[in-house]
Amino acid sequence: MSERKKVNIGTLRAMKQRGERASFITAYDFPLARYVDRAGVDMILVGDSLGMTVLGHKTTLPVTMDDMIRACQAVTRAVERAFVVGDMPYMSYQPSDRDAIINAGRFIAEADCDAVKMEGGKRMAGRVRAIVDAGILVMGHLGLTPQSLGQLGGYRVQGKSLAAYKQLLDDALALEDAGAHMLLLEAIPNEVAELIRNRLSIPVYGIGAGNRLDGQLVIVHDILGMFEEFTPKFIKRYAEVGKLITESITAYHNDVKTGAFPTEEHFYPIALEQLDEIRLFVEKNEGQQKAQ
Ligand code: KIV
Repeated sequence: MSERKKVNIGTLRAMKQRGERASFITAYDFPLARYVDRAGVDMILVGDSLGMTVLGHKTTLPVTMDDMIRACQAVTRAVERAFVVGDMPYMSYQPSDRDAIINAGRFIAEADCDAVKMEGGKRMAGRVRAIVDAGILVMGHLGLTPQSLGQLGGYRVQGKSLAAYKQLLDDALALEDAGAHMLLLEAIPNEVAELIRNRLSIPVYGIGAGNRLDGQLVIVHDILGMFEEFTPKFIKRYAEVGKLITESITAYHNDVKTGAFPTEEHFYPIALEQLDEIRLFVEKNEGQQKAQ
Protein backbone atom coordinates (compact mmCIF):
# COMPACT_ATOMS: atom_id res chain seq x y z
CA MET A 1 0.00 0.00 0.00
CA SER A 2 2.73 2.49 1.00
CA GLU A 3 4.40 1.67 -2.34
CA ARG A 4 1.49 3.40 -4.14
CA LYS A 5 1.71 6.57 -2.05
CA LYS A 6 1.74 9.57 -4.39
CA VAL A 7 5.17 11.07 -5.01
CA ASN A 8 5.38 14.76 -4.10
CA ILE A 9 8.12 17.38 -4.01
CA GLY A 10 9.04 16.26 -0.48
CA THR A 11 9.53 12.70 -1.75
CA LEU A 12 11.77 13.96 -4.55
CA ARG A 13 13.87 16.08 -2.20
CA ALA A 14 14.24 13.15 0.19
CA MET A 15 15.35 10.91 -2.70
CA LYS A 16 18.02 13.44 -3.62
CA GLN A 17 19.15 13.64 0.02
CA ARG A 18 19.69 9.91 0.25
CA GLY A 19 21.28 9.68 -3.20
CA GLU A 20 18.44 7.71 -4.77
CA ARG A 21 18.03 8.51 -8.46
CA ALA A 22 14.51 9.26 -9.68
CA SER A 23 13.22 7.46 -12.78
CA PHE A 24 11.45 9.92 -15.06
CA ILE A 25 9.71 9.16 -18.36
CA THR A 26 7.28 10.82 -20.73
CA ALA A 27 3.67 9.72 -21.29
CA TYR A 28 0.93 11.39 -23.29
CA ASP A 29 -2.19 9.25 -22.94
CA PHE A 30 -4.19 7.13 -20.52
CA PRO A 31 -3.01 3.60 -21.42
CA LEU A 32 0.70 4.43 -21.57
CA ALA A 33 0.50 6.45 -18.36
CA ARG A 34 -1.11 3.48 -16.64
CA TYR A 35 1.66 1.11 -17.76
CA VAL A 36 4.33 3.61 -16.74
CA ASP A 37 2.78 4.20 -13.32
CA ARG A 38 2.31 0.47 -12.70
CA ALA A 39 6.00 -0.03 -13.48
CA GLY A 40 6.78 2.13 -10.45
CA VAL A 41 8.37 5.08 -12.27
CA ASP A 42 8.76 8.09 -9.95
CA MET A 43 8.00 10.96 -12.33
CA ILE A 44 6.10 11.45 -15.60
CA LEU A 45 6.63 14.33 -18.00
CA VAL A 46 3.73 15.09 -20.30
CA GLY A 47 6.17 16.69 -22.71
CA ASP A 48 5.46 18.95 -25.64
CA SER A 49 7.47 16.25 -27.44
CA LEU A 50 3.97 14.86 -27.99
CA GLY A 51 4.01 17.14 -31.03
CA MET A 52 6.54 14.78 -32.60
CA THR A 53 5.85 11.44 -30.92
CA VAL A 54 2.05 11.52 -31.09
CA LEU A 55 0.87 14.31 -33.41
CA GLY A 56 3.41 13.81 -36.22
CA HIS A 57 4.82 17.37 -36.29
CA LYS A 58 8.47 17.93 -37.22
CA THR A 59 9.15 20.01 -34.06
CA THR A 60 7.46 20.80 -30.75
CA LEU A 61 6.62 24.36 -31.84
CA PRO A 62 3.06 23.82 -33.18
CA VAL A 63 1.87 22.23 -29.90
CA THR A 64 -0.91 24.24 -28.24
CA MET A 65 -2.11 24.64 -24.66
CA ASP A 66 -5.24 22.69 -25.54
CA ASP A 67 -3.12 19.79 -26.89
CA MET A 68 -1.18 19.76 -23.62
CA ILE A 69 -4.17 20.05 -21.30
CA ARG A 70 -5.99 17.21 -23.06
CA ALA A 71 -2.92 14.97 -22.81
CA CYS A 72 -2.25 15.88 -19.17
CA GLN A 73 -5.85 15.13 -18.22
CA ALA A 74 -5.60 11.67 -19.77
CA VAL A 75 -2.31 10.99 -17.98
CA THR A 76 -3.38 12.17 -14.53
CA ARG A 77 -6.58 10.12 -14.79
CA ALA A 78 -4.38 7.03 -15.07
CA VAL A 79 -1.71 7.85 -12.50
CA GLU A 80 -1.86 6.83 -8.85
CA ARG A 81 1.73 7.29 -7.71
CA ALA A 82 4.03 9.15 -10.10
CA PHE A 83 4.70 12.89 -9.86
CA VAL A 84 3.28 14.44 -13.04
CA VAL A 85 4.94 17.42 -14.72
CA GLY A 86 3.09 19.29 -17.48
CA ASP A 87 5.27 20.88 -20.14
CA MET A 88 4.39 24.49 -21.01
CA PRO A 89 4.26 24.72 -24.83
CA TYR A 90 5.81 27.35 -27.06
CA MET A 91 4.26 30.81 -26.55
CA SER A 92 2.26 29.77 -23.49
CA TYR A 93 4.68 31.63 -21.16
CA GLN A 94 7.06 33.65 -23.35
CA PRO A 95 4.76 36.67 -24.00
CA SER A 96 4.14 37.89 -20.40
CA ASP A 97 4.00 36.98 -16.70
CA ARG A 98 0.22 37.09 -16.98
CA ASP A 99 0.14 34.49 -19.78
CA ALA A 100 2.63 32.38 -17.87
CA ILE A 101 0.60 32.39 -14.65
CA ILE A 102 -2.75 31.73 -16.36
CA ASN A 103 -1.38 28.89 -18.48
CA ALA A 104 0.63 27.32 -15.66
CA GLY A 105 -2.54 27.48 -13.55
CA ARG A 106 -4.47 25.54 -16.23
CA PHE A 107 -2.03 22.60 -15.86
CA ILE A 108 -2.80 22.48 -12.15
CA ALA A 109 -6.51 23.38 -12.02
CA GLU A 110 -7.79 21.72 -15.21
CA ALA A 111 -5.34 18.84 -15.61
CA ASP A 112 -4.36 17.95 -12.04
CA CYS A 113 -0.60 18.13 -12.74
CA ASP A 114 1.86 18.37 -9.85
CA ALA A 115 4.23 20.86 -11.50
CA VAL A 116 4.96 22.64 -14.76
CA LYS A 117 8.16 22.69 -16.80
CA MET A 118 9.40 25.65 -18.81
CA GLU A 119 12.48 26.22 -20.95
CA GLY A 120 15.02 29.02 -20.60
CA GLY A 121 17.51 30.45 -18.10
CA LYS A 122 18.22 33.91 -16.76
CA ARG A 123 15.94 35.64 -19.23
CA MET A 124 13.03 33.46 -18.04
CA ALA A 125 13.81 33.87 -14.33
CA GLY A 126 11.13 36.55 -13.92
CA ARG A 127 8.52 34.24 -15.41
CA VAL A 128 9.60 31.42 -13.09
CA ARG A 129 9.28 33.78 -10.11
CA ALA A 130 5.79 34.85 -11.23
CA ILE A 131 4.58 31.23 -11.50
CA VAL A 132 6.20 30.21 -8.22
CA ASP A 133 4.54 33.21 -6.53
CA ALA A 134 1.22 31.86 -7.79
CA GLY A 135 1.89 28.76 -5.67
CA ILE A 136 2.90 26.42 -8.48
CA LEU A 137 5.87 24.02 -8.54
CA VAL A 138 8.24 24.77 -11.41
CA MET A 139 10.87 22.68 -13.18
CA GLY A 140 13.38 24.69 -15.22
CA HIS A 141 14.86 23.26 -18.42
CA LEU A 142 18.35 24.17 -19.72
CA GLY A 143 20.79 22.90 -22.32
CA LEU A 144 19.20 21.73 -25.55
CA THR A 145 15.87 23.53 -25.30
CA PRO A 146 13.77 22.49 -28.33
CA GLN A 147 11.59 25.62 -28.24
CA SER A 148 14.73 27.68 -29.12
CA LEU A 149 15.95 25.28 -31.80
CA GLY A 150 16.46 28.11 -34.29
CA GLN A 151 18.72 30.08 -31.92
CA LEU A 152 20.64 26.92 -30.97
CA GLY A 153 21.19 26.02 -34.64
CA GLY A 154 19.48 22.62 -34.40
CA TYR A 155 19.72 19.57 -32.14
CA ARG A 156 23.24 20.10 -30.75
CA VAL A 157 24.94 19.02 -27.54
CA GLN A 158 25.28 22.04 -25.23
CA GLY A 159 27.86 23.07 -22.59
CA LYS A 160 30.96 21.96 -24.48
CA SER A 161 33.16 25.02 -23.79
CA LEU A 162 34.13 27.13 -20.78
CA ALA A 163 31.91 29.96 -22.00
CA ALA A 164 29.00 27.57 -22.47
CA TYR A 165 29.54 26.06 -19.00
CA LYS A 166 29.59 29.53 -17.42
CA GLN A 167 26.40 30.48 -19.23
CA LEU A 168 24.64 27.27 -18.15
CA LEU A 169 25.72 27.73 -14.54
CA ASP A 170 24.61 31.36 -14.57
CA ASP A 171 21.23 30.32 -15.96
CA ALA A 172 20.86 27.44 -13.48
CA LEU A 173 21.66 29.68 -10.49
CA ALA A 174 19.23 32.33 -11.76
CA LEU A 175 16.45 29.74 -11.98
CA GLU A 176 17.17 28.44 -8.49
CA ASP A 177 17.24 32.01 -7.14
CA ALA A 178 13.89 32.66 -8.84
CA GLY A 179 12.38 29.79 -6.86
CA ALA A 180 12.47 26.91 -9.37
CA HIS A 181 11.94 23.67 -7.46
CA MET A 182 13.70 21.32 -9.90
CA LEU A 183 15.89 21.58 -12.98
CA LEU A 184 16.17 19.46 -16.11
CA LEU A 185 19.41 19.44 -18.13
CA GLU A 186 19.22 18.21 -21.73
CA ALA A 187 22.07 17.09 -24.02
CA ILE A 188 25.07 18.12 -21.91
CA PRO A 189 28.31 16.17 -21.30
CA ASN A 190 28.24 14.04 -18.15
CA GLU A 191 31.01 15.95 -16.34
CA VAL A 192 29.58 19.40 -17.12
CA ALA A 193 26.11 18.35 -15.98
CA GLU A 194 27.57 17.06 -12.71
CA LEU A 195 29.43 20.33 -12.09
CA ILE A 196 26.19 22.27 -12.47
CA ARG A 197 24.23 19.87 -10.30
CA ASN A 198 26.84 20.21 -7.54
CA ARG A 199 26.32 23.99 -7.39
CA LEU A 200 22.56 23.71 -6.80
CA SER A 201 20.50 22.49 -3.89
CA ILE A 202 17.32 21.66 -5.89
CA PRO A 203 17.01 18.23 -7.56
CA VAL A 204 18.61 18.21 -11.02
CA TYR A 205 17.44 15.66 -13.59
CA GLY A 206 18.93 14.87 -16.97
CA ILE A 207 18.06 13.65 -20.44
CA GLY A 208 21.19 12.95 -22.45
CA ALA A 209 23.17 14.51 -19.60
CA GLY A 210 25.02 11.48 -18.21
CA ASN A 211 24.49 9.53 -15.01
CA ARG A 212 25.59 11.81 -12.18
CA LEU A 213 22.37 13.72 -11.64
CA ASP A 214 19.42 13.20 -9.31
CA GLY A 215 17.35 11.35 -11.88
CA GLN A 216 17.04 10.23 -15.46
CA LEU A 217 14.43 11.23 -18.04
CA VAL A 218 13.72 9.42 -21.33
CA ILE A 219 11.05 9.75 -23.99
CA VAL A 220 8.89 6.65 -23.74
CA HIS A 221 8.59 6.22 -27.52
CA ASP A 222 12.40 6.18 -27.83
CA ILE A 223 12.99 3.35 -25.35
CA LEU A 224 10.05 1.30 -26.65
CA GLY A 225 11.04 1.56 -30.32
CA MET A 226 7.98 3.59 -31.33
CA PHE A 227 9.67 6.65 -32.83
CA GLU A 228 11.26 6.07 -36.22
CA GLU A 229 12.43 9.55 -37.19
CA PHE A 230 15.72 9.35 -35.23
CA THR A 231 17.18 7.70 -32.13
CA PRO A 232 19.32 9.94 -29.91
CA LYS A 233 22.75 8.61 -28.89
CA PHE A 234 21.78 8.48 -25.21
CA ILE A 235 18.86 6.11 -25.75
CA LYS A 236 18.81 2.45 -24.78
CA ARG A 237 16.11 0.43 -26.55
CA TYR A 238 14.19 -1.83 -24.16
CA ALA A 239 11.67 -3.14 -26.70
CA GLU A 240 10.65 -3.05 -30.36
CA VAL A 241 7.00 -2.21 -29.77
CA GLY A 242 6.62 -0.49 -33.17
CA LYS A 243 7.74 -3.69 -34.90
CA LEU A 244 5.44 -5.78 -32.72
CA ILE A 245 2.47 -3.53 -33.57
CA THR A 246 3.13 -3.77 -37.32
CA GLU A 247 3.50 -7.57 -37.14
CA SER A 248 0.32 -7.94 -35.08
CA ILE A 249 -1.79 -5.70 -37.33
CA THR A 250 -0.44 -7.47 -40.44
CA ALA A 251 -1.56 -10.80 -38.97
CA TYR A 252 -5.02 -9.33 -38.26
CA HIS A 253 -5.23 -7.92 -41.80
CA ASN A 254 -4.33 -11.30 -43.28
CA ASP A 255 -6.84 -13.11 -41.05
CA VAL A 256 -9.65 -10.83 -42.24
CA LYS A 257 -8.71 -11.42 -45.87
CA THR A 258 -8.53 -15.22 -45.47
CA GLY A 259 -11.52 -15.56 -43.13
CA ALA A 260 -9.39 -16.84 -40.26
CA PHE A 261 -10.90 -14.08 -38.09
CA PRO A 262 -13.55 -13.71 -36.82
CA THR A 263 -14.70 -17.31 -36.22
CA GLU A 264 -17.32 -19.04 -34.04
CA GLU A 265 -15.47 -18.34 -30.79
CA HIS A 266 -15.73 -14.57 -31.40
CA PHE A 267 -19.49 -14.54 -32.13
CA TYR A 268 -22.15 -13.48 -29.59
CA PRO A 269 -24.50 -16.42 -28.88
CA ILE A 270 -28.31 -16.24 -29.07
CA ALA A 271 -30.82 -18.68 -27.52
CA LEU A 272 -32.20 -21.13 -30.10
CA GLU A 273 -35.87 -20.26 -29.32
CA GLN A 274 -35.19 -16.55 -29.95
CA LEU A 275 -33.38 -17.34 -33.16
CA ASP A 276 -36.21 -19.62 -34.35
CA GLU A 277 -38.72 -16.86 -33.60
CA ILE A 278 -36.70 -14.33 -35.62
CA ARG A 279 -36.25 -16.76 -38.50
CA LEU A 280 -39.98 -17.56 -38.57
CA PHE A 281 -40.78 -13.86 -38.63
CA VAL A 282 -38.32 -13.24 -41.46
CA GLU A 283 -39.67 -16.18 -43.49
CA LYS A 284 -43.25 -15.02 -43.03
CA ASN A 285 -42.40 -11.43 -43.84
CA GLU A 286 -40.40 -12.33 -46.90
CA GLY A 287 -43.22 -14.63 -48.02
CA GLN A 288 -45.70 -11.78 -47.71
CA GLN A 289 -43.43 -9.37 -49.57
CA LYS A 290 -42.94 -11.84 -52.43
CA ALA A 291 -46.71 -12.41 -52.63
CA GLN A 292 -47.39 -8.64 -53.03
O1 KIV B 1 8.87 17.60 -24.35
C1 KIV B 1 9.69 16.84 -23.82
O2 KIV B 1 9.54 15.62 -23.79
C2 KIV B 1 10.87 17.47 -23.26
C3 KIV B 1 12.07 16.60 -23.07
C4 KIV B 1 12.74 16.38 -24.38
C5 KIV B 1 13.00 17.18 -22.11
O3 KIV B 1 10.88 18.63 -23.00
